Amino acid sequence: MIVKTEADLEGLKKIGKIVANCLQYMARTMEPGMTTRELDELGGRYLEMHGARSGPKLTYNFPGYNCISVNHEVAHGVPSDKKIQRGDLVNIDVSAELNGYYADNGGSFIVPPINPDYQRLCDTTRKALMAAIAAVKAHEPINVIGYHIEKVAEEHGYTVIENLGSHGVGRGLHEEPKFIAGYYDKDDKRKLKEGHVITIEPFLSTGARFVDEEADHWTLVAGKENRTAQYEHTMVVLKDRALIVTLPDPA
Ligand code: CO
Ligand code: CO
Repeated sequence: MIVKTEADLEGLKKIGKIVANCLQYMARTMEPGMTTRELDELGGRYLEMHGARSGPKLTYNFPGYNCISVNHEVAHGVPSDKKIQRGDLVNIDVSAELNGYYADNGGSFIVPPINPDYQRLCDTTRKALMAAIAAVKAHEPINVIGYHIEKVAEEHGYTVIENLGSHGVGRGLHEEPKFIAGYYDKDDKRKLKEGHVITIEPFLSTGARFVDEEADHWTLVAGKENRTAQYEHTMVVLKDRALIVTLPDPA
């Protein structure tokens, strides 16, 4: 969507805060022995308490409130009886709707004891996200996003998942532009517009470049041995910068 009014901005900020706080709440609450379904239901209840509805459930009839992807799973992991274990790398992606506005926020979290390789992957992916966000402003080419993500990934010896991207959001969970590459696509001539609402969500991997769908038709994986991290914010493109709407309240 393009933000046109103060009400649009307020609506996005409101749902942005809810998904951001929900994500941090889930990450804080997660512990070994908990199933991903139990964790998902805590998140689902949090959204409900705040009047919000799960984006993937509402939009795609996803069998859960939030996507929870563990270890080799990259994205769209379905909450299940799988127990979270010590040392796991867990990606939680929370998107939701309130009063017709959507926001989308995700992150990867390490269950202690912290594997230093996972830490480095997570730190680098967060760095890629922040580098891409710093490049955002109205009238810039959309491909500056992928340019910065790929640059940070390569500098640290990681690959970018090429068939998962960032996207427009706002009045729906996935809107135009439907796919913003996480790598530099020199042929992409599109430009960021003032008021555009987009996500940026780099997926950095220890070696994979593509994800495949599992037999459940939801979970996306990229080989058992690879690990991937993702961090995602929803933002409004302003004249001179990005305004992030998915920042949580201080814990
Ligand atoms: Co997301
Ligand atoms: Co997204």
